Amino acid sequence: MTHTIVLIPGDGIGPEVAGAVQAVFEAAKAPVEWEVHHAGVAAVSDSGEVLPQATLDAVRKHRVALKGPCTTPVGKGFRSVNVQLRKELDLYASVRPIRSLPGIETRYEDVDLVVLRENTEGLYSGIENEVTPGVVTSLKVVTERASRRFAKWGFEYCRKRGRKKLTAMHKANIMKLGDGLFTRSARAIRDEGSYDDVEYDEMIIDAGAMRLVQNPNNFDVLLLQNLYGDVFSDLCAGFVGGLGVAPGANIGDDSAIFEAVHGSAPDIAGKGIANPLSLLMSSVMMLNHMAEVLGADECKATANAIKAAYDKALSDGQKTGDIGGKLNTKQFTDAIIERL
Ligand SMILES: NC(=O)c1ccc[n+]([C@@H]2O[C@H](COP(=O)([O-])OP(=O)(O)OC[C@H]3O[C@@H](n4cnc5c(N)ncnc54)[C@H](O)[C@@H]3O)[C@@H](O)[C@H]2O)c1
Repeated sequence: MTHTIVLIPGDGIGPEVAGAVQAVFEAAKAPVEWEVHHAGVAAVSDSGEVLPQATLDAVRKHRVALKGPCTTPVGKGFRSVNVQLRKELDLYASVRPIRSLPGIETRYEDVDLVVLRENTEGLYSGIENEVTPGVVTSLKVVTERASRRFAKWGFEYCRKRGRKKLTAMHKANIMKLGDGLFTRSARAIRDEGSYDDVEYDEMIIDAGAMRLVQNPNNFDVLLLQNLYGDVFSDLCAGFVGGLGVAPGANIGDDSAIFEAVHGSAPDIAGKGIANPLSLLMSSVMMLNHMAEVLGADECKATANAIKAAYDKALSDGQKTGDIGGKLNTKQFTDAIIERL
């Protein structure tokens, strides 16, 4: 059976890395067909909108999408398309696994941790107000409902994946109400759900950041509010080789969007040198999700085959420039395809 996936190529290097994923899927005979829709700057020329209704409708219909990065203007212009997508589709849990890869030398070895990020509120509420010229307030929203459902998702994730420890990081010593509600909600879920198989602990985030860089191997799964999760997921990508090799997923109760952790990389867009691995790894997460959540069992074998092929390519020293190799996007994609 063939499954339809919405493909949102995105901006900058997005179409380049999305094209690489499509080529690998075709070579792997993945049981999927793509339905291409646009978002971001790429959508404006077609529809005049950064997030067309047709794109949202397609993700709601097919329940799964693979998305390249979308450009967001800094300090002006339209609101982030990524944030809009997560909010519109209520994709409340962001999952960013961080795993050491073969053939990539970094300062750390055998890293295997997961950053879980609450995706719908916190400082990403987008509510900002210029009280008077020179004075701006940015509102951080924390609700019990969102904190509890995210914490529950986190505990369930640990249980399903056999993960042993969930660590919430916070700044409840300063933001006593907001971050206090977040940690209180997580503790309540732990107590209600009798998650005796998952150790739960809490750390104040500044000290937690220090402990994390001292030894990431002491951590298993991190439970973080929106902005903390954003910062920590990029920081943790640095443990294993950078933004080019970290995958991500945004998951809700009805649909899920899988996307690279990196942005549209305007500095290298159009040069054909982007590392497609982050989006390819995200697509493997997507195939596993389709097998586990959507009943598309046949996707599991394709996921395993693609993962084995890129692990082998890396072990053989086949790498793009950002991780110390010499290959361009096409050469690296071909190296993966040869090993399928
Ligand atoms: N989820 C998303 O769509 C997403 C995420 C982050 C940033 N953005 C957007 O992307 C744009 C650029 O942001 P930025 O420059 O801060 O971050 P970026 O991730 O695009 O780039 C940071 C650095 O990493 C490099 N890099 C990123 N991905 C790479 C890859 N696959 N291969 C090789 N090198 C890679 C870039 O060349 C650059 O030097 C902004 O408009 C930002 O809002 C989008």
